[in-house]
Amino acid sequence: MSFAPKILNWYYEHQRNLPWRETRDPYKVWLSEIILQQTRVAQGMPYYLRFVEAFPTVHDLANAPEEQVLKLWQGLGYYSRARNLHTTAKMVVTDFKGEFPKTYKELKSLKGVGDYTASAIASFCFDVPEPVVDGNVYRVLSRYFGVDIPINSTQGIKYFKELAREVMDAENIRDYNQGIMEFGAVQCAPKKPYCLLCPLQESCVALQKNKVDQLPVKLNKTKVRNRYFNYMVLLDDDGNTVLEQRKGKGIWQNLYQFPLIESGKMLQAEELMPLMLKKDAIPETASLSLYNKEPIVHKLSHQHLHTQFWILKTSDILEEGIPWEGIRDFPVPVLIADFIKTLKI
Ligand code: ADE
Repeated sequence: MSFAPKILNWYYEHQRNLPWRETRDPYKVWLSEIILQQTRVAQGMPYYLRFVEAFPTVHDLANAPEEQVLKLWQGLGYYSRARNLHTTAKMVVTDFKGEFPKTYKELKSLKGVGDYTASAIASFCFDVPEPVVDGNVYRVLSRYFGVDIPINSTQGIKYFKELAREVMDAENIRDYNQGIMEFGAVQCAPKKPYCLLCPLQESCVALQKNKVDQLPVKLNKTKVRNRYFNYMVLLDDDGNTVLEQRKGKGIWQNLYQFPLIESGKMLQAEELMPLMLKKDAIPETASLSLYNKEPIVHKLSHQHLHTQFWILKTSDILEEGIPWEGIRDFPVPVLIADFIKTLKI
């Protein structure tokens, strides 16, 4: 038996029932695929269900305020996905009369929709014979066929896409594509794959050569950058605080946070004072105390944020202050949300 029927047989026996597999509505499939990028099914599922409930159609999403979209996304990370989601919903409504395009090429023209997502929507909803190549597929193909070309090299990306196209089942592309991803997620897992019970074990090159744990090969390109964040948590006598919206490019665009002073290293209170006075939001009368003696290190994929929260009590009335309880209505990074949970005022 060749590769594709083995994958399909396995899939028909072992697939999980997932809500986005029970629909051909391209809006819902697109939503699920954007949510599931860089996210495990268990983590993405509640977000998917909340989004579908809040926005049953692409029109509902397009008409929503960005803040509502970001708030629903809170905790999933990579917030550009949420902003692109909103932009694309508006684009589908205005440029495509509310109907998702049906071809790979048109799908790929949508913001935030790359090769993988365009192939996924086209094949799951419209049976277009395009292979999907996500992290699961790279792992399965590299192991089964024993390919050690780095999956994130230009050559590797091209090679694996061609290989994926060669071995796919074009007649049954919807189930085949779901199947190979599911096989990668459930059976051919990154660590501790279930090779002993694997129906593909006899023809798996990596298993024969004892190289399962060495594949796929990935070039290490990520360099971690250290950043030092000082958050100014203002509190006035009425229990109000101040939030700012993050602007410009970079992490957490359009999310809210406490006024931030970024520095080149960890700071002591004396070093922070002069920097603080330059910031408009902060009254000169504020008294400063450090909340967390050890910095909290919040790890993102390319950045480690060494964070100190400083409490600033003031008897001035805070301009543009909001009640502490009101913070929960704003979309904030998890780093801030976790801090708010620990602080009792
Ligand atoms: N991860 C990304 N897309 C997926 C899908 N359609 N089903 C399960 N896991 C996925």
